[in-house]
Amino acid sequence: MTEARVKLIVDDIVEAVRDVLRKHKVTFPEYRAGFFHLLETAKSGEMGLLIDMLFNQTVCDIEMQSREGTRFCVEGPYFLEGAPEVKDAIKLRGDYEPLLIRGQITSTDGSPLNDAVVDVWFADPDGFYSGFEDDFPIEYCRGKVRTDADGHYSVQASVPGEYPITRERHGPTGQLVEMLGRQGWRPAHVHFKANKDGFRSLTTQAYFEGGNYLDNDPVEAVFDDLTHATTQEDGTRVLDVNFTLDPA
Ligand code: DHB
Ligand code: FE
Repeated sequence: MTEARVKLIVDDIVEAVRDVLRKHKVTFPEYRAGFFHLLETAKSGEMGLLIDMLFNQTVCDIEMQSREGTRFCVEGPYFLEGAPEVKDAIKLRGDYEPLLIRGQITSTDGSPLNDAVVDVWFADPDGFYSGFEDDFPIEYCRGKVRTDADGHYSVQASVPGEYPITRERHGPTGQLVEMLGRQGWRPAHVHFKANKDGFRSLTTQAYFEGGNYLDNDPVEAVFDDLTHATTQEDGTRVLDVNFTLDPA
């Protein structure tokens, strides 16, 4: 990001916020209340959660104006570099229901993409992400899978839990969600980030048809084209998710 672009955007953000302060004649105590709320959010480690909840999907919508492939959707605050490469199965935790996640990756021209790398990450059945909790290291519930010669990938995972922005982890972001009169649960979802040389990186999510909170996601990131029906195969639940990547 160039310095000129930083100046352009930050100057406009500051002016937009000042306009809101003037429009609502915000008082000094109100200003301080907001100030301390943001300090509390930072102290409790929820800055990423708050910022992504409010703004990540907007940036994804902008991204989609120049894409033809699979919809770009929020990365959220829980992606981690350095997830392990996995061959067949991701390490799992909790009282989980197995879920086979598989699909094919193609280019927008329809040709299959071999050797693409897909980061897959999801919450455990209790809605926790690995790498952000004590005793829940990043080898669990996340991994990098590779496509074969026909562009197919396949990995054993588990049905993710719904993710609470409020609940017992009731930090400043959850308080704000409640004050705004929104509900605080994200629908169950699986995150993906697909990379292949010569193609634009794709970050997206998959949701489960018939799941809870699809109509009132606090992050506003649910779309029909990202919502999938699962099937049963040999007693295992299967989520088929194909991706189309845009050439770089
Ligand atoms: C957000 C996104 C997620 O995928 C999630 O699990 C939690 C929060 C967010 O955008 O704030
Ligand atoms: Fe998530």
